[in-house]
Amino acid sequence: MAVLDIVKAGDPVLKQVAQPVAKIDSRLRKLLDNMADTMYAADGVGLAAPQVGQSICAVVIDVGDDHGLIELINPVITEKSGAAADSEGCLSVPNVFGTVERAAEVTVEYLNRWNKKKKLHASGLLARCIQHEVDHLFGVLFIDVATSIRNGDKK
Ligand code: CO
Repeated sequence: MAVLDIVKAGDPVLKQVAQPVAKIDSRLRKLLDNMADTMYAADGVGLAAPQVGQSICAVVIDVGDDHGLIELINPVITEKSGAAADSEGCLSVPNVFGTVERAAEVTVEYLNRWNKKKKLHASGLLARCIQHEVDHLFGVLFIDVATSIRNGDKK
């Protein structure tokens, strides 16, 4: 396990559309382990593979709720409902916060690290985080979609 370097805004990898994971193998599982280490070391609640320089559709999330660590491979948001505006930040955009309007609830379908199809319904911070991380896979940063942006102070 290892803490990886986090790519910062301005790096072209963050603007690329990530490729679907073609093969779920020990190499990918090791990347997921390292992404989780990196997220926890940086005190983040989510990290997408492009943020560690890998343009593939893999995401780790842990918002500190009962779900614990969630690993999403090739995630697709299949349902969205409601609307909610709240503050967001991003490990690739340090010391910047912004208000982003998101769906209040989402359903996401994905593969887990054992190539099993999974479906998760989420609300609150978890729903927000899923949408933020899936945006990364399309080359979209929260500062691209925020309705207002603030520097420096937290939240
Ligand atoms: Co982010």
